[in-house]
Order: sequence, then C-alpha cells, then structure tokens
Amino acid sequence: MSFSSRIPNFYNLTVEERRNTIAKMLELTEEEITILEGNSIDDEALSFMIENVVGILPLPLGIATNFIVNEKEYLVPMVIEETSVVAAASHAAKIARKSGGFRAEYSGSFVTGQIQVLHIQDFDSAEKNIQTNLTELLEKADSTNKILTDLGGGAKDIEIRRIKGKLENYLVLHLIVDVKDAMGANAVNTMLEVLKPDVERLTGGKVLLRIISNLVDKRYVKVEAEFDKNELGGENIVDMILLAYDLADHDPYRCATHNKGIMNGIIAVLLATGNDTRAVEAGAHVYATKEGGYKSLTKFTKNDNGDLLGCLEIPLSIGVLGGAINVNPTYKTALKILGVSNVEEFACVVAAVGLAQNVAALRALVSEGIQKGHMMLHARNIAINAGAKGDKIEEITQRMIEEENISFDRAKEILNHPNT
Ligand code: MEV
Repeated sequence: MSFSSRIPNFYNLTVEERRNTIAKMLELTEEEITILEGNSIDDEALSFMIENVVGILPLPLGIATNFIVNEKEYLVPMVIEETSVVAAASHAAKIARKSGGFRAEYSGSFVTGQIQVLHIQDFDSAEKNIQTNLTELLEKADSTNKILTDLGGGAKDIEIRRIKGKLENYLVLHLIVDVKDAMGANAVNTMLEVLKPDVERLTGGKVLLRIISNLVDKRYVKVEAEFDKNELGGENIVDMILLAYDLADHDPYRCATHNKGIMNGIIAVLLATGNDTRAVEAGAHVYATKEGGYKSLTKFTKNDNGDLLGCLEIPLSIGVLGGAINVNPTYKTALKILGVSNVEEFACVVAAVGLAQNVAALRALVSEGIQKGHMMLHARNIAINAGAKGDKIEEITQRMIEEENISFDRAKEILNHPNT
C-alpha cells in the first residue's frame, strides 16, 4: 500500500477522528479498531504474561507522522507517558523528509550467547578442542531450532575469550546466532543449554552461566539524515546544536540526558510493538562506551550548505515475531500500522525515530527550551479533550497559557462562555 505519512492537521483532530483517519489509510479491520480503543486483552491472557496479575495499566498510543526511511513512508506507533515526544519526533521527521528522509543500514540479526567455563586446567587444549569440534557444536545448537535453520538462521560461530577474573581465570564462549526476525533470547538460551555437556567434556571445565548478552554489537543499525538549516531555524541553530552535542560527547552528566532523549523515541516504539525495552536500553548504554568513556550515540556535523547532518548507530535487540507480540493483539495492530515486513525494516525505522527524537530535543533546547513546547502541547490536549474544535483549539490553548491556568475546567469554561 502506498500512502504519505504526512497528515497535515493530524494533531488538531480528536482521538476518535485520528483513529478513524489511520483506520481508513491503513484499512484496519473493525476488530483492529476495537483493539486500539483499548478493549483488547482479557484477564486470562494477562495472567499468561506475568505472575500475580491484578489489573492493567493503560498508556496512550500515539502516531508519529512524516517518517520516510529508505524511501518508504511510515506512520510510527509510539507508547509513552511523556508529552511532546510524539510531536517532537514527527517534527524532526518532517524536516528530514525535505531531503529525502532517513537512510539506514542493518547489520543482520547476529546475537551473542555467553557460556562461562570455570575450573579449566589447560586453556590451550580447551580452546583447541572447541575449535576442532566447532562444526559439531554448531550443529548441536541448531538441532534445537529447525524453524530458524530452515529460514537460513541458526548458530554461525563460536568465539573464545579468556577472562582474568578476580577469583580465577576462566573462558567465556560466545555463540553467535543469526536469529532472523525474532528478538532471539529464547532461541539462543535454549542453544546454550544444550551445549553445556559438550562444552564441559571438551574443555574439562565446569559451565556456570548460559545466557544471551544484551550487548548485541553484531545486530545494529546505522541511520543518517540531513536536516535543513532553515527548517531548524537558521544556521546559528545548527551551530548551537553542534555545541550542545559537543557537551554530550565530553560530559557524562549531559550525555546521559542526551542519550535518554534518543531512547525516548526508541523505547516508545518498542513499547508499542511488544519488545523488550530493557534489553535495548541496556545494550545501547554499553555500546555508548565502545570508544572509551560514555559517549553520545549520535554524531553530528554540518555540510557545506550549513545544514545539520545527523547519524545514529545503535544495537537493537528487537523482533517482529514471537515473545509478547503473540499475546497482546495491540502489539500486532501497532506492527500493522507501522507496516514493516521484517526485522531489518523495523530496526531501520526504530533507529530513525531515535535520531529524529534527538534532533528535535536539541533544536528545542538550544532555542526556546523544552518547557514552552511541553506546556503548549499539554494545554492543546486539554482544550481538545474539553471539546474544542477548529480555531477554538488554538484560541483556548493560548488563553490558558496566558492566564497560566491550564486545566480541563478552565478549558470548558472558556469554550462555553468565551467572554469569561
Ligand atoms: C526529556 O525527556 C528528554 C530531553 O531532556 C533530552 C535532551 O535533553 O536532549 C529533552
């Protein structure tokens, strides 16, 4: 289906109008519309997800507009409790689309599983035995997952690392698995378990940990985009963004917040699509130290024309299959809205949202500051919820901001009695 993710005035519609707009554009079924309304999951399904369930916590699902990634249009579902994030991503994506949108590359879905092997007497022969029996070990790992190997995925290699520990020296084996479109934790952990007896026999050691690593540095995306200087507010804004970025790259206090802004976008898309946000967050922050010291995940420069060039490289432990996605129909509907057909496409869009989010935050921080935008959006949402339509939305929003009285009651009052 071809459509434009640019939907002028989308933010001025009511929730129902927006839902209907999306439903029409993406041909959502009645069932999918009901799912978006929030009536999607019963107690029994909830009880399968976690233990001791007593209820459910609703969060808003918004749609970021304007995204073009690798020449394809995307409407991006985002779940987050923080105001401004969806608007900010949409705004930066609108600027990027002027120069063709985001260009992203995916490394492939290679995930690392770790096996810690203790009490080794002879390290050289332990390593040699693993290397000589590599093919058999990979075949054994693959025997646990025929579906994955039929798709061309599966165990691809074993890397061996020696660790000088505090208590003893030991080996860590890294099983490298191509998990294709899944997040892969279950697949990899199962493979690690089945290898335990062979690893102990071949190394003469004792296996302790068998667990996936969330530092998926062989599963990453690199995304780039150009942001027009005039759309950002002028070349001086570009220069100030470069200075703000410089602080992030030199100072962990700022860098934590800078990278948090990137994760605002990424985590919101992952929450909407049933992914393990903690795995991605953990991996991203360790990846940010790969050059030594905690650094910005994004890099910025300026081109000859004075436009901002942004780049984000980030490991993404994500999937479009399996895990919680099968349990909660909202995740499936969100993935349908996003319209990705595999994890490569998904990862490219997720990373693009991260870059957009960072640019939007930096632009706001170096110009009007973020608080003004927050208050404006907050007031506008309240005006819409109070029933304002068309020009009334802006009018009521402005009045509440001028009066420094942003509340549902005040919005209703102005709507019903404009002269009060
Ligand atoms: C707020 O959630 C995120 C920002 O603080 C990010 C940043 O400072 O770059 C605005």
